[in-house]
Amino acid sequence: MSATLNFSGKNVFVVGGTSGINLGIASGFARWGAKVAVASRKQEKVEAAVKQLKALGAEAFGVTFDVRNFDDVEEGFAKVSEFFGGDIDVLISGAAGNFPSRVNDMSANAIKSVIDIDLLGTFHVMKAGHAYLIKPGASVINISAPQAFLPMSHQAHVCAAKSGVDMITRNLAIEWGCEGIRVNSIVPGPIAGTEGMGRLAPTPELQKAVTNSVPLGRQGSVDDIANAAGMLSSEQSSYISGAILPVDGGWSQSGATSVMANLSTMLDKMAEK
Ligand code: COA
Ligand code: NAP
Repeated sequence: MSATLNFSGKNVFVVGGTSGINLGIASGFARWGAKVAVASRKQEKVEAAVKQLKALGAEAFGVTFDVRNFDDVEEGFAKVSEFFGGDIDVLISGAAGNFPSRVNDMSANAIKSVIDIDLLGTFHVMKAGHAYLIKPGASVINISAPQAFLPMSHQAHVCAAKSGVDMITRNLAIEWGCEGIRVNSIVPGPIAGTEGMGRLAPTPELQKAVTNSVPLGRQGSVDDIANAAGMLSSEQSSYISGAILPVDGGWSQSGATSVMANLSTMLDKMAEK
């Protein structure tokens, strides 16, 4: 992890920051000296994440809410602001849900659950968070996915939701730019050991196929995504806004589409058994 990033004296809130990639981001900012808050649905995950962040030496705090409930999100921001004793320098919105399913096998409620968490949830976090952002100077990052711009079998719900997330990013870069708030998306590629990759490639064979499809020849780490979030939130990125930044070892250039076609065939076979 880069030794040059310094976020001491900064307040960082990671929504969906209690596991996987987002906890990796929260941990990165904790190591770089920030005061860090995280939020998600499950109290036990929030408590474990706060403990982990404190062990890294950070002042850390957690709140429990479901991003689908706007009133709870607003209440969560109020509590986080009280903990910070000031406004938010860096806001990361990364709560998401995913499961592989063809459209024909998805109920109306199934697609709604993912749209509500990923897309509506992002809107809720942006809407409730705006009042608490440092103006000028805040860095807002939405966690997107390659599905935002690459159609993939078994992923129509995520494709629809994440493309909407990126359009929220681009619209807010325009609407909030005059207040000195920068808004960007990070698009992680396949990140090793995460829930998301476990759901899309649930066997060692499928994991290997994914790894082999990445031009750089490896799956990413949560630190790769944390480093990108730190870089985007640093002074050195002060003119970057409205960017959709793939951090994926080149995966979205071609490998993502071909391997997902193979994965979907294998997932169908597994479902038939
Ligand atoms: N295939 C098809 N439909 C599925 C499904 C699958 N594998 N998994 C869930 N669904 C459907 C459910 O059947 C339900 O529809 P129904 O009411 O018509 O039966 C709908 O999706 C909602 O499921 P439910 O479990 O009630 O939703 P939830 O709000 O408790 O959880 C999820 C949301 C489904 C997205 C859940 O997987 C989750 O909480 N994910 C968070 C973690 C995660 O996905 N991490 C990876 C991030 S990339
Ligand atoms: P993860 O570990 O499951 O992380 C999801 C986080 O969001 C958890 O902290 C979860 O905690 C929280 N969450 C889920 N639903 C929520 C809700 N309704 N309200 C509030 N919080 C909620 O998954 P991950 O694989 O690391 O993915 C993290 C992000 O990266 C997601 O945005 C995903 O789309 C993106 N991404 C992942 C990959 C990958 O390779 N894994 C690739 C591209 C993009 P609770 O369960 O406690 O709510």
